[in-house]
Amino acid sequence: MARSRRRSARPLVPLALALALSGCAEGEVKVRPRADKAPAGPKLDPAVERAIAAGDKLFFDRAACSACHKVGKRGGMIVGPNLGVGDGMEAPLAVRAKTRRPELAPIEYVVESMLDPDALVVPTYAPAVMKAIDDLPSALSDDELVAVAAFVASQGAAPPLEPADLERARAQIPRARASREARRAASAAAADPAPETPPAPSG
Ligand code: HEC
Repeated sequence: MARSRRRSARPLVPLALALALSGCAEGEVKVRPRADKAPAGPKLDPAVERAIAAGDKLFFDRAACSACHKVGKRGGMIVGPNLGVGDGMEAPLAVRAKTRRPELAPIEYVVESMLDPDALVVPTYAPAVMKAIDDLPSALSDDELVAVAAFVASQGAAPPLEPADLERARAQIPRARASREARRAASAAAADPAPETPPAPSG
């Protein structure tokens, strides 16, 4: 940048991008590509980074989410929606979550999906295909649930997840379990109605 005569920011943009991509954006580059966008290569909080890495591993391994889901180009099965972009999904999960459940943070929606999958059934998909993870042999600890949720909710997350999101996910666990149990109790009651008051004996 030695002989920069900043007539306009434009010529610097490719340089800023190149520096960002090469991982040496280190605050030297004053001109960002777009003020309204997070800088490329956002720095993740270390706890968030660890959770995402652990969740990534679980997703494709013990939690067996990849038996049904792809994440972008990763994985091979598409019984359930691709959680990244692809196979008909145009926006990654973090973006989609806001339209599915605007009242929840994306990471909370993922926790709900794992523990109470029929709370919201994705349009064009069948209910009851995805089972509550608690009912499977792969049942996860709370830490593992938070990790998988962080991995899934990090798909397209802007701004990136923060430690507060991990806490949100953790707090969502008992809520999702409680609403699942309430839903089950309601549907059991509907399937097997309590006997009505027997008619008064005539005679
Ligand atoms: C047996 C297949 C199956 C497995 C295993 C499975 N899912 Fe699903 N999943 C589905 C199906 C089918 C849907 C769409 C219907 C619905 O919403 O329940 C879905 C929906 C979702 C959604 C909502 C997607 C959207 O576009 O809103 C998320 C998030 C999700 N699953 C996460 C997971 C995670 C995380 C795991 C692993 C813990 C997992 N799933 C395991 C079949 C599965």
